[in-house]
Amino acid sequence: MTNQAKLGQPRSRLVIHDLAQRNGHAEFSRDIREGLSSYPKHLFPKYLYDELGSRLFEAICEVDEYYLTRAEDEILKTHADEIVAGIPDCDTLIELGSGSAEKTRTVIDTFMRQRRELLFIPVDISASTLAESAHALLDSYPSLRIDAYASDYFQALDALPPLGRNPVLVLFLGSNIGNFEPTEARNFLSAIRRVLRPEDVLLLGVDLKKDRQTLEAAYNDSLGVTRAFIVNELGRINRELNANFDLWAFGLRSFFNEQAGRVEVYLESLRAQSVEIRELNMSIHLEAGERIYVESAYKYDLNDLRRFGKEAGFDLEQTWLDKQKRFSSNLFRAAN
Ligand code: AVJ
Repeated sequence: MTNQAKLGQPRSRLVIHDLAQRNGHAEFSRDIREGLSSYPKHLFPKYLYDELGSRLFEAICEVDEYYLTRAEDEILKTHADEIVAGIPDCDTLIELGSGSAEKTRTVIDTFMRQRRELLFIPVDISASTLAESAHALLDSYPSLRIDAYASDYFQALDALPPLGRNPVLVLFLGSNIGNFEPTEARNFLSAIRRVLRPEDVLLLGVDLKKDRQTLEAAYNDSLGVTRAFIVNELGRINRELNANFDLWAFGLRSFFNEQAGRVEVYLESLRAQSVEIRELNMSIHLEAGERIYVESAYKYDLNDLRRFGKEAGFDLEQTWLDKQKRFSSNLFRAAN
């Protein structure tokens, strides 16, 4: 209310489409049942991001060992002018997995300085995070318009409004692509390509292969924020499916599987235990030392990315690295 009074109806510049709400609970139930009755047991990265989980992920971005966010931020701060200048007439910015949209501010800022107007289309699985970041952006930029989708990526790509005549820029930052298996990642790039026209642009943030010590520390920080973030998925099952996971009885294990090119993130049961998931009418048993696979974080090198892009119908035009060469921002142009 106060914002509205101060800034002249910022809410009229905002639409939020809540697609996650539809069938959200049924899908969560089905996936958790499937994952916990498989052997080995597994959970899903997309369910890490409830309201608390999204906040815990933002805290991860602040810890010393998790270098990814700072490295990407450095790249964007250094090169945003060049990136935006390379897409003349672009007036639409789509972001997949926008989260708090903190890094996006650098890009939006540049748009606002170089052009006058921008339509920002953020997509995020967490409706609360989306609403919060959208309002903060509208308060900062009086001529910004936002058309937001609370949804998973694939649903959102299907639901996007028809694109205007001018080129669009799609952001997929933070090495979010690393959660996908490589074939899924390629299919996802193809799905993005299908909603774009020749000359539209994708800026893809990808973490690079590097030494084991740095990678394993990034996914197992000494403060324990990553453990809290990952174990929160069990907490969410407790809250939403009336289960009784003892959150103290799980340790975080993160390993770099060099051959597969990925960090593997597991929860390990610290003792033999049984858990009731009442809403699913299900009880599960875990042996001492048994692991639940929660997520993969694939790491790539620049040749992989160029090939991936080609196969999906993109030309890799330019790559920027941070000073320490840990992280890459890759500008792909939709091919004819
Ligand atoms: C948000 C998927 C990019 O894989 O680095 C961080 C998630 N998991 N620490 C990543 C995550 C544990 C993060 N992504």
